[in-house]
Amino acid sequence: MMTTGSPTRSTADRILGIETSCDETAAALVVRGTDVLSSVVSSQIELHQRFGGVVPEVASRAHVELLMPVVSQALVEAGVADNEVEAVAVTHGPGLVGALLVGLSAAKALSLVWGVPLVGMNHLEAHLYAAFLEEPDLEMPMVFLLVSGGHTMLIVMEDHLRYRVLGSTLDDAAGEAFDKVARYMNLGYPGGPVIDRLAVDGDPTAISFPRAMAHDGWDFSFSGVKTAVVNHVRKHPDVDVNDVAASFQEAVVDVLVDKARRAAREVGAKGLCLAGGVAANSRLREKLLDVCVADGYRAFLPSRAMCTDNAAMVAAAGWWRLQADGPSAMTIGAEPSLRLPSI
Ligand code: KG4
Ligand code: ZN
Repeated sequence: MMTTGSPTRSTADRILGIETSCDETAAALVVRGTDVLSSVVSSQIELHQRFGGVVPEVASRAHVELLMPVVSQALVEAGVADNEVEAVAVTHGPGLVGALLVGLSAAKALSLVWGVPLVGMNHLEAHLYAAFLEEPDLEMPMVFLLVSGGHTMLIVMEDHLRYRVLGSTLDDAAGEAFDKVARYMNLGYPGGPVIDRLAVDGDPTAISFPRAMAHDGWDFSFSGVKTAVVNHVRKHPDVDVNDVAASFQEAVVDVLVDKARRAAREVGAKGLCLAGGVAANSRLREKLLDVCVADGYRAFLPSRAMCTDNAAMVAAAGWWRLQADGPSAMTIGAEPSLRLPSI
């Protein structure tokens, strides 16, 4: 199936996106779901680092302080006045309930004051739309590997806003496994970028970590490999940290890429696309590209800034949702466990 392309009629093209589902406070101005006029991301990483992970209450309080300055900066950088914003799209789930409520309350207030539509967005759907910011004409069906701190999903996008979830993780998300392994080894938070960096100087074949469920359906499991790393480091305290990082990363990436490759073949996909924070991983990007070249699929790897949480992806997905479903009701609430709408 080909993409249906952009809708012909549009009532609100200049959309302010707001994202506060976890530890990034972000706002962006995007036109017609593709043209990014500004994308401001204020990371709270330093605030959470000393706790070794995101502390929900600390995140909510930081969002309260940071959000309006971030929105103002996004408008200024875009050169767009308040009265030129045509809709406000905001993540209302999944995520941390307190963090979501900050963005949602601000978005409702702005929508009321400016008299423009409110669009409540699914964070997972927004991650998928990061791809269209840089490649508006992606052909479908497309297999997406959505890998973040909270989710690991294999998704077929049949057309705009139409998804089929093939599989997801049964325990830890891929990013969560990176973060937990790094935390155990005292490497800091978030763990993904650190392990990615250390792995460059390590040997990916040094330690053979398990590849759980590699040939078994579409679901994933990463808690076993995490435990295997912990056990190995306990038994071999002098092991080379770079080798552990490279071998662990290789085990995770092997499973992700093998399943995505099989899925693309099975559904006759036009290509494979990465989404979510773990999509910033160097080895994952390299390996996915290799298999796409070998199998003749198009590989699409969004820029690293668009893989991790940002508000441009929220505004982009919001544009499509607004065309399809119209504005959200002012009564929408935060939905910490919101799922991707599946056909
Ligand atoms: O999508 P995201 O920014 O937030 C969520 O929605 O979860 O993803 C954050 C996750 C964290 O677990 C982080 O460790 C991981 O993405 N991550 C990476 C890399 N950069 C971020 N994992 C592996 N390699 C990276 N380079
Ligand atoms: Zn995310």
